[in-house]
Amino acid sequence: MPGLPALFDLSGRVAVVTGGGGALGRVAAGALAEAGASVAVVDLSEAAAAKVAAGLTEAGAAAAIGVGADLSSEEAVEGAFAAIEAAFGRIDILVNAISAAIDRHGPEEFPLQTWDAMLASNLTSYFLCSRAAAQRMIPAGRGGSIVNFGSIAGSNVLGRGGLAYGVAKGGVAQLTKETAYAWAPHGIRVNAVLPCQFVNDWWRGNLADPASTRPPGPLPRARSARPGSTPPSSRR
Ligand SMILES: NC(=O)c1ccc[n+]([C@@H]2O[C@H](COP(=O)([O-])OP(=O)(O)OC[C@H]3O[C@@H](n4cnc5c(N)ncnc54)[C@H](O)[C@@H]3O)[C@@H](O)[C@H]2O)c1
Repeated sequence: MPGLPALFDLSGRVAVVTGGGGALGRVAAGALAEAGASVAVVDLSEAAAAKVAAGLTEAGAAAAIGVGADLSSEEAVEGAFAAIEAAFGRIDILVNAISAAIDRHGPEEFPLQTWDAMLASNLTSYFLCSRAAAQRMIPAGRGGSIVNFGSIAGSNVLGRGGLAYGVAKGGVAQLTKETAYAWAPHGIRVNAVLPCQFVNDWWRGNLADPASTRPPGPLPRARSARPGSTPPSSRR
């Protein structure tokens, strides 16, 4: 049986991290590069994607590129995946880690335009990128792995007015199960992680507003974690 380092060795594999310019996507991209994968960092902010990719290259990644794209658009997703395939020749791993800033309204007054935009960014993008990845993984016949960032907001009511975000994350959970079932025969594993509360730029801006951070109850340690930090429970 191979040792643990060999089991986690991703040399020769190509990983795509969407939302890779963000707090958690950046950490995922770094971990994949550290394990030996070539990494494509994709983000709405081309500058953020390029900065993360440059950091990975500087830290000794096999290869890294930054791609700017609005992944809620079918055309942009196709363009980004075609560019990544052209650069690296294959795609083995997809991490979906997009998040659009949460717009808060009560359900009875939630604007349709906001609803549509939130679902497009936080759910449709996951579908489009998963589909684009599977369309390449299946014919290649090497299997693959897709990891979707869901949220506890997709299975719990946090009481913060984030209706469309929570509904989108509930959709991410079901998308994960549907695609895991459909693509298992092709050796493609699809899993989701459901983070609790991590500090990112958007959340940092919220900390001053008690209405948007309430309630601390659902957070097991009643405080936010920091991306890349050791989980609190393992520090006991
Ligand atoms: N931070 C948390 O506490 C937390 C908790 C639960 C779940 N999550 C989930 O984890 C994932 C990562 O969260 P994060 O904290 O790193 O978020 P973040 O806001 O730091 O980063 C999200 C990134 O997604 C990008 N993005 C937004 N819309 C896009 C689009 N249409 N096309 C391409 N890129 C787009 C943004 O530019 C940003 O860089 C998200 O799916 C989020 O919903 C985060």
